[in-house]
Amino acid sequence: MVFLTKTIMLIQLTYASRTSKTLVPDDLKAILAASQRNNTRAGVTGALCLANGIFLQQLEGDRTTVNQLYHRILADPRHRDPAILDFAEIPSRSFTQWSMGSLSSLEANRAIFLKYSRSSSFDPYTMSPSTLRAFFDEIMHNAAWLN
Ligand SMILES: Cc1cc2nc3c(=O)[nH]c(=O)nc-3n(C[C@H](O)[C@H](O)[C@H](O)COP(=O)(O)O)c2cc1C
Repeated sequence: MVFLTKTIMLIQLTYASRTSKTLVPDDLKAILAASQRNNTRAGVTGALCLANGIFLQQLEGDRTTVNQLYHRILADPRHRDPAILDFAEIPSRSFTQWSMGSLSSLEANRAIFLKYSRSSSFDPYTMSPSTLRAFFDEIMHNAAWLN
C-alpha cells in the first residue's frame, strides 16, 4: 500500500534587503497592498520594517509557499542585496493578526530599533538569528504599526 502525504511544515523566513534608488513613498503602500492581498490567499503572515533604507521582513507559513513567495519577492526591482538572515521551523505563528503588518515610522519606534542596534543606526544585516527573533517578538508586542 502506498501512502501519499504532503508534509505541512510551518516555517519562518527572515531576510533583509536594501531599497533600490527608485523607491518612492507610494511604493511601500503598493507593496503592502499586494502583500496583504496575496498573503491572505496564500496563508502567509508576517511583518515588514523599513528603516535606514533597509527592508527587514519576516514571512511565516507553509515551507513551500514561503519559498515560492520569497523567490517572487527577490525578483522585485524595488529592492536589492537580499540576504536570508534566519530560516527555521516554528511551532506556531507570531503574526496572526497581519497577512503583512508594517511598522509605522522609524521615529515612532526609535527606542525599539536602538535597543537592538549595536550602533546608532539600525542594521539588520549584522543581527544574529536570536537577536532578530527577539526584535520581532518585541515589535509584535510593543511597536507602533501602520493600520
Ligand atoms: C520588500 C518587499 C516585500 C514584499 N513582500 C511581499 C509579500 O509579503 N507578499 C507579496 O505577495 N508580495 C510582496 N512583495 C511584492 C512582490 O515583489 C510582488 O510585487 C507582488 O507579489 C506582485 O503581486 P501581484 O502580482 O498581485 O501584483 C514585496 C516586495 C518588496 C520589495
